[in-house]
Amino acid sequence: METNFANQFFAERTSGIRSSAIREILKITVSDSEFLSFAGGLPNPSLLPSDLLENATEKTIRSMRDVAFQYGESAGYKALREMILEHFICDEGLDVGSICITSGSQQGLDILGKLLMDQKTNVLLENPVYLGALQAFSPYRPNFISLPMEVDGPNLNALGQILSEKKVHCFYANPSYQNPSTCTWSIAKRKEVALLLDEHGVILLEDEAYRHLDFMGNLYPSIASYRRNGDLTFVLGSFSKMISPGFRLGWVTVPKPYQKIFTAIKQGNDLNSNQFSQIVLYHLLLNLDIQKHLRLIQSYYLHQKNYLVHLLNEYLPELIFQDPLGGLFLWVEYPNVSEKKMMERILEKKVVMVPGNEFRLEPSPKAFFRMNFSFLKEAEMEEGVKRINAVYRDIIT
Ligand SMILES: Cc1ncc(COP(=O)(O)O)c(C=O)c1O
Repeated sequence: METNFANQFFAERTSGIRSSAIREILKITVSDSEFLSFAGGLPNPSLLPSDLLENATEKTIRSMRDVAFQYGESAGYKALREMILEHFICDEGLDVGSICITSGSQQGLDILGKLLMDQKTNVLLENPVYLGALQAFSPYRPNFISLPMEVDGPNLNALGQILSEKKVHCFYANPSYQNPSTCTWSIAKRKEVALLLDEHGVILLEDEAYRHLDFMGNLYPSIASYRRNGDLTFVLGSFSKMISPGFRLGWVTVPKPYQKIFTAIKQGNDLNSNQFSQIVLYHLLLNLDIQKHLRLIQSYYLHQKNYLVHLLNEYLPELIFQDPLGGLFLWVEYPNVSEKKMMERILEKKVVMVPGNEFRLEPSPKAFFRMNFSFLKEAEMEEGVKRINAVYRDIIT
């Protein structure tokens, strides 16, 4: 009754909003400590240097009180933006004015939706796609078009065909260690896609949340760097996976013609990103050897990934997945089971993974699960895989 009553007041834009199964799952796993979770994309908090973190927080409170506890510039704390430009942006021709700090890169996605998408605007997405992007863009009610993917990036024939048949306004892509598929686009495909997008005048929203999480420390060139027209690409970055999601800080590189309006939209969202957290992060980065820290997390995640791969090969050899080059996940096909049934049954055994259809516009008949390897300890991962194995064997026999 109550729900119906509320429904009549909802704005039309709420009709396409999807809730995140991952967030719902996180709630269960937080409230019940017996759950073993392969679900979240949680970086491992033990990799954060606590002494540097304490010093940075103390310094902010002791000597930056006037600035840290005030409203700040909407585009972000200038010294932090300069650091982002120096350490995390490889694209040439950008200056500090191009960097806008956002409340997580997730806010960047919402602002870009508001900036670029009207009802029925054609927006191209990878299949599967990062669920948070669907959540951010859906309220603007664009027309989503799904692009078939291959192990090294988009299927170029399909991309060419879509671009010649439809007027695509923007393409949202997560080309390095994609969440959830782990796909990393080859350099050749980055170049080809840049060419095709230039030819058809398409805006690219390049989400590089995992760029610095290559297991071997490689850094792929952005697609933006291959585009003829620099005004047609926004690149999103994040501190969540490199440092901590608790800061809720990310950034967007915004081409000059859009900077004023982008900042004005951000003002409507939150005036400015958390000023205290920006200044603590600035002090942390001043004293952190960032290259050393990145090598540490990269090798830790490599080790964790190898362990999960080893467990799956040992207990569940029939599973199908690509060995990823970086990131936090495996994208695993479970043959001959229904995704829904598998999910229900593993929950009974107090273990969770994210069902693949959460990341799709149209459900797939094949059962896929996204499995995170960065958070659980080795013994917990093994126990989790044993529980999953027991469920899988029970269903297929
Ligand atoms: C591909 C991708 N983009 C953006 C985000 C949002 O990250 P944040 O808002 O923490 O920067 C995530 C988070 O998991 C992600 O996986």
